[in-house]
Amino acid sequence: EKAGHSHYMHKEIHEQGMVLRTTLKGRISDGRVDLSKDLNWTQEDAQRWKKVHIIACGTSYYAALVAERVFERWTDLDIRVDIASEYRYRNLRCDPETLAIFVSQSGETADTIAAQRKARAEGAHCMAITNVRGSTLAREVHSILLLKAGPEIGVAATKTFTGQVAALFLSALYLGRLRGSMTADEEARLVNEFLQIPYKVENVLEKENEVIKLAQKYHDRQDFLFIGRGISFPVALEGALKLKEISYIHAEAYAAGEMKHGPIALLDEKVPVMAIIPRDMMYEKTLSNVLEAKARKAPVIGVCTEGDEHASKYMDDYVEVPWTDEEFSPFLTVIPLQLFAFHVAKILGKEIDQPRNLAKSVTVE
Ligand code: F6R
Repeated sequence: EKAGHSHYMHKEIHEQGMVLRTTLKGRISDGRVDLSKDLNWTQEDAQRWKKVHIIACGTSYYAALVAERVFERWTDLDIRVDIASEYRYRNLRCDPETLAIFVSQSGETADTIAAQRKARAEGAHCMAITNVRGSTLAREVHSILLLKAGPEIGVAATKTFTGQVAALFLSALYLGRLRGSMTADEEARLVNEFLQIPYKVENVLEKENEVIKLAQKYHDRQDFLFIGRGISFPVALEGALKLKEISYIHAEAYAAGEMKHGPIALLDEKVPVMAIIPRDMMYEKTLSNVLEAKARKAPVIGVCTEGDEHASKYMDDYVEVPWTDEEFSPFLTVIPLQLFAFHVAKILGKEIDQPRNLAKSVTVE
């Protein structure tokens, strides 16, 4: 059932093109996002909402942080993203003007379920993005957008991360459309690029051999720093989480501009910096942070846009991903990070599909 792969995680990483195709299928027609078959939202609902809260744990939370950046662009709503175990004990104003989106692969995460119950009691419209149709979360919410990623067996989430980001992006585009906060031209341009993403993801997966070389070169390091800015910051968080989960190597992620406020003290020639630096609005800024790391002799591994000879000059090593509109770069930049974590863990002989101390669904607080 691993279909020729050594591990479920490897199989699931390689399924991501297909998962994205399935997630988009039937939800885009004539260049527009249409979720009316999935969501029971009315035009009045969409007009009433003033706020969006997105709540999740772990990798699902990082998917939400990626989506935060597009909700703030594509909709006119106030957007907040929080960790479920924090949200449930906070006093964020949540009310009938709030659309609360709960993201959970399993639909069984105790904190996410509890946060949903709280938001629901406060009158929010609660929506779930989940991979499990009959899960507790799915049964309790007002509306559901199913991932259709197929079962994910590896404890480390991979295909459900990209699937969740896609489902959240579809939700943002649909909301933008219902609220009229996006022009038809803008929507058509975004949808057009969105449809290319599964192919571009498959293109990145073909670079696996390059990532294996990086894993061979760096697997014996004790600490890693992952950096990114803008929409690449949550990608850095996710890359660091994958590495620590399955290889048990200490990895931290920072918004690159924060480096000089503390973490730069950690850097020397022993600590590699993984820089997520696609050609986007933040590119020059991230590049200047890369130079700060280089000045401390840290080896820098870049995840760059294809043909970016300028950035690659400053990198000790790099992997390229195809060009895309900046909103969509996380689908591509996260792939080398997943593969890197996988191959480092494999070289180190770790239990990749069943890392110590972790469970696939966390049903206790
Ligand atoms: C990381 C990972 C966990 C989960 C988290 C939430 O690879 O798998 O961080 O993302 O436990 O789980 P769900 O999405 O099922 O609520």
